[in-house]
Amino acid sequence: MPSAPLHDLAQRLIATGEGRLVSGLLAAVQHVHALVAETRPSADEMRAVIDFLTEVGHSADARRQEWVLLADVLGVSTLVEDMNAQRPLGATPNTVAGPFYRADVPETANGGSICRDGSGAPLRVTGRITDLAGAGLGPSLVEVWQANGAGVYENQEPDLQPEFNLRGRLVTDSLGRFSFHSVRPKGYRLPDDGPVGRVLTGLGLALERPAHLHFRVTAPGCQVLTTHVFDRSDPALARDAMFAVKPELLADITPDPDLAGAWRLNVTFVLAPLAGHTPQPTRGRI
Ligand code: BEZ
Ligand code: FE
Repeated sequence: MPSAPLHDLAQRLIATGEGRLVSGLLAAVQHVHALVAETRPSADEMRAVIDFLTEVGHSADARRQEWVLLADVLGVSTLVEDMNAQRPLGATPNTVAGPFYRADVPETANGGSICRDGSGAPLRVTGRITDLAGAGLGPSLVEVWQANGAGVYENQEPDLQPEFNLRGRLVTDSLGRFSFHSVRPKGYRLPDDGPVGRVLTGLGLALERPAHLHFRVTAPGCQVLTTHVFDRSDPALARDAMFAVKPELLADITPDPDLAGAWRLNVTFVLAPLAGHTPQPTRGRI
């Protein structure tokens, strides 16, 4: 039985007409009322929640989006991504892009280096883009971005790292193969100096992200794939603050047999066709 305020508000909302805004607002109001009925906050607790949300709002501006961070650490960003980017069985799962993607990166020749400051443990990445049947898809566009060996992205410290450091935009060969030289990324923590970080760290929950590389792959006739590749050896995998870790996205970073202190990573991305489209592999399988 809804409370009197919920009943009255629902009637008023319904009377305004139909549509996504009304149905969404109605659902939100019903859930908030159910939450309050279940947890029975005191007036002081209600004030503390309002103070927290006020602080989140004050911490959001053009350079920092504390609301997005809140959605991230509550698992809502990944939930929305998962619901909107469902892929058929066998296709590489999509994940959130995160705030560090840049579309304006100059092209790097296939086989070239994306490390523009020469620091970090060398990592050679090789990969392949295929369709669901395993046939190579090329030429495809591969965009990559990652943190450096200290866990910092180029645009987080523009005075210390060269522009576009550890960002690449490569075109695969006709069989969907690509490679590039980079450095082994380190995991990092999401910003914890705002209200969201303070609440989570107060609870003993670090905003950790295990070491990863981000990829976006675009091939004709296929759904664009935006995803992560995670370092399987990172102990923080089970604690990812973004909830983006999926078994299919774990990869081994192994010692390079040809170069002491250097690493190798091999990845395969399986793309899903656009609805109603059969992608044409250019030259069969490898
Ligand atoms: C990232 O992995 O780059 C990221 C994703 C979501 C929030 C913050 C960072
Ligand atoms: Fe990242």
